[in-house]
Amino acid sequence: MTTALVILAAGKGTRMLSDTAKVLHQIAHAPMLAHAMRTGAALNPDRIIIVAGVGADAVAKAAHRVDETAEIVLQEEQNGTAHAVAQAKSALAGFDGDIFVLYGDTPFLQPETLADMQAARATHDLVILGFHPADPGRYGRLVMQDDTLDAIVEFKDASPEQRQISFCNSGLMACNATTLFGLIDEVGNDNASGEYYLTDVVALARDRGLTATAVACDESETLGVNSRADLAAAEAIFQTRARAELLENGVTMTAPETVHLAFDTVIGRDALIEPNVVFGPGVTIENGAHIRAFSHLEGCHVSRGAIVGPYARLRPGAELAENVRVGNFVEVKNTIVSEGAKINHLSYVGDASIGARANLGAGTITCNYDGVMKHHTKIGRGAFIGSNTMLVAPVAIGDGALTASGSVITKDVEAGALSMSRSPQVTKPGRATKLFDMLKARKRKRDMEAG
Ligand code: UD1
Ligand code: MG
Repeated sequence: MTTALVILAAGKGTRMLSDTAKVLHQIAHAPMLAHAMRTGAALNPDRIIIVAGVGADAVAKAAHRVDETAEIVLQEEQNGTAHAVAQAKSALAGFDGDIFVLYGDTPFLQPETLADMQAARATHDLVILGFHPADPGRYGRLVMQDDTLDAIVEFKDASPEQRQISFCNSGLMACNATTLFGLIDEVGNDNASGEYYLTDVVALARDRGLTATAVACDESETLGVNSRADLAAAEAIFQTRARAELLENGVTMTAPETVHLAFDTVIGRDALIEPNVVFGPGVTIENGAHIRAFSHLEGCHVSRGAIVGPYARLRPGAELAENVRVGNFVEVKNTIVSEGAKINHLSYVGDASIGARANLGAGTITCNYDGVMKHHTKIGRGAFIGSNTMLVAPVAIGDGALTASGSVITKDVEAGALSMSRSPQVTKPGRATKLFDMLKARKRKRDMEAG
């Protein structure tokens, strides 16, 4: 069956008190909208329509980062959820598949729930996703008769009896496109909010003799974000789930509650993650790698047997091959570190390639930036970079070459060569003792003069 997602993302999100559109606020380093799109992707949709309003340009950008085929339609004024879906009508002209209406600010919906809705569509014209909240509050109420959904009544418009109903509307809906737009055409705004309610399509459908039902999901899936506190709570829920999933998949975490994961963090089994490790987006850790405490990783890959940290920072483009060591206070960016190479202490290595089993001594710095452009540093296999070497890029160190400690290397070093670039050492026997005696005498004299 052909399907289209219509994701409502036009709302102001007034309670966020933000200059950013609500759906662009992030959970685990991805905008809420991206979470909704990723869940929707489980339906393998032929079309993705995002209804944007506030901050539409930024919303479009974020949507295209997830799926460049996503189509953005504008809802200039937020006149209600039916009005929002109606904005997708011309974009979907001629489309006669199913529409799934999702909310851009509901990031926890599970793909299985969409599959349940899809299954229910086989026997019903209209399928609503409902849930049983602990506190039904102001949610729309689902008026059911056995399996049949007769109407959705918004809390504001509900009678006292209807308010007693505990089965509530999540807002998600599945329906044939032609049918849905036909129903939406008939929705009016004669209600407590003066808005065009999408929920009205249920009663309109029943009047036409169409069938409607509701499937239920867990309340946690329909959790919406309306405030910063909700956003923080949503982040916590995401982290708890993601950590549990890693533990289930054979990852060891000594203090999982202190490990922060991104929406796309991939960690293989038997990897060991120590406390207080932060994963930004785009990290993959292979089986058996070891990430030590207080390390910060983003946009990087760590292979089997590698040990990172404690206190290491891997930035985008850091690719660590098997058995690499990156130790404390080392920053690696846009660099391929080949098998068994070691960068163990206090270094910055950026825009570089490091040969297998090379050893970079403490304080090695690739001087990659001249203030205008970035330049590459190449270090050969088995090269030994002495402590406190400045490698002024562009520069290449050959296989098995050695740079002396404290050198400033500005020219290429050929394979097997020793390169030294520092002032020669001068030693004067007895001079230190003599110098100290002279200084002490001078101090004594000054102290006496001062009384
Ligand atoms: C809606 C439902 C209610 C349900 C609740 C679940 C209607 C009329 N009511 O109420 O039954 O229990 O969600 O959370 O549908 N939006 C737009 N354009 C608009 C209006 C809304 O894009 O003109 C978007 C919002 O950004 C949001 C979603 O649609 O993502 C829902 O809108 P909201 O105003 O939160 O609806 P509720 O009053 O919560
Ligand atoms: Mg709402």
